[in-house]
Amino acid sequence: MIAGLGMDIVKTERIKMLLEKNGVAFLHKILAEDEIKEYSSFPLIAAEKIAGKWAAKEAVAKALGCGFGENCAIKDIHILHNSDHAPIVTLSGEAEKYAGKLGVEKIFLTITHEKEYAAATAILEK
Ligand SMILES: CC(C)(COP(=O)(O)OP(=O)(O)OC[C@H]1O[C@@H](n2cnc3c(N)ncnc32)[C@H](O)[C@@H]1OP(=O)(O)O)[C@@H](O)C(=O)NCCC(=O)NCCS
Repeated sequence: MIAGLGMDIVKTERIKMLLEKNGVAFLHKILAEDEIKEYSSFPLIAAEKIAGKWAAKEAVAKALGCGFGENCAIKDIHILHNSDHAPIVTLSGEAEKYAGKLGVEKIFLTITHEKEYAAATAILEK
């Protein structure tokens, strides 16, 4: 049964500016350690990929209905990739507890990005 739906769109230029201004510190602010570790094996971190990840995290937060705050930190939402490079979502911390209370068993996520925008949609199943 569907327990939640969320989507988000992010302007790549906004992420590009934050990356240029704050560099790696910005990545550490929004990405969990496992996400940073996965990126370190990629040859290039494009702003549009980070924009896609940001959109994905917002889409999951919307689907959960918590937004970013005391019930869900941006780094509680982990977006990694399977061997086909499809995105996979796991939760930790308060977000994991929040999803547990909702009875969420699985999160479906899709991400897309072009030069100017990135977007993502998340569906929660219980
Ligand atoms: C998967 C594919 C259709 C993506 O289309 P695209 O127009 O190149 O890229 P988009 O901007 O729309 O989407 C990119 C995002 O798709 C997601 N994605 C990549 N491979 C995926 C896959 N196999 N399944 C689901 N999602 C995938 C990723 O989240 C990626 O963004 P990220 O790397 O920043 O996380 C394309 O890369 C492709 O055809 N790959 C070849 C083989 C393949 O994996 N086919 C899928 C099964 S038939």
